[in-house]
Amino acid sequence: MRFAVTTSYKPSKEEIHKARRLADEMEVEYVSRSRLKQYEKDHELDFYYVFDKNGQLVIRSGDSVFFFHPGMSKVRLKNIKLQDSDYLINSMGLTGRETVLDTTLGLGNEALLIANFLPEGRVIGLEASEHIFRIVSHGLEYYPYSDDWIKEAASRVEVYNVDLREFVRTCSNDSYDIVYCDPMFDTPQYRSHSINPLRAFASYERINREDVSEMLRVSSKRLILKSRTRDTLFQELDLKFDRLWGSKKSGVLYGVIEKK
Ligand SMILES: C[S@@+](CC[C@H](N)C(=O)[O-])C[C@H]1O[C@@H](n2cnc3c(N)ncnc32)[C@H](O)[C@@H]1O
Repeated sequence: MRFAVTTSYKPSKEEIHKARRLADEMEVEYVSRSRLKQYEKDHELDFYYVFDKNGQLVIRSGDSVFFFHPGMSKVRLKNIKLQDSDYLINSMGLTGRETVLDTTLGLGNEALLIANFLPEGRVIGLEASEHIFRIVSHGLEYYPYSDDWIKEAASRVEVYNVDLREFVRTCSNDSYDIVYCDPMFDTPQYRSHSINPLRAFASYERINREDVSEMLRVSSKRLILKSRTRDTLFQELDLKFDRLWGSKKSGVLYGVIEKK
């Protein structure tokens, strides 16, 4: 994909510095905002990164903007407080001290939700897509959080730009208490507005039974896989779950395999 890095209009010296540094790291051009329109045409860019005035990093492509936002974790926590139920959190059985490996970080919303229940633990998040990793890791660190709980949860999330399949094969047995995997669904849920801008950049590689065995090997308590009722992933993997939780309404399923 062809892309470049720029700033907002009338940037500060610091914004220019950050944008130049990101462009160097990614080995692409830094383009000043005033030159961007022409540069975009001349080089047929697919998208560009923008260091915004408010310190946020976003990706713009035509009319679409991809940015970090912790909104879904807020909604989920609110629901937990109202109904005391969330299939993911319930299936994890957290005591508050665990180290959880979230192998598919995405927007980081579930990582934040999990981290909220780990006052003495942490979440390690993996993301295969470099562009998603850039936006979400920047957001987790610099987002202007208005709720203290999300700010604290974010400080307990550590992220890496790596493919889960490679990563788990380098880990020793029982390295993490719980391993969680939420790959892209094969029937996209376009109603999920929070995930829509991420789709263009996501990794769609399928996990196989060997990957599942590796994830279970590196967990000491349990492995949790997420899929949808309409997806073929669980049939394809043909796994024996100890518990399968989810709601018919959302069509989202969490399969739990306990480490024996
Ligand atoms: C459905 S999203 C995860 C959403 C996430 N649970 C959240 O709360 O935002 C799946 C993410 O996993 C990433 N992904 C898919 N396959 C991966 C792999 N093999 N290794 C690491 N990340 C992967 C995708 O790029 C995408 O960002």
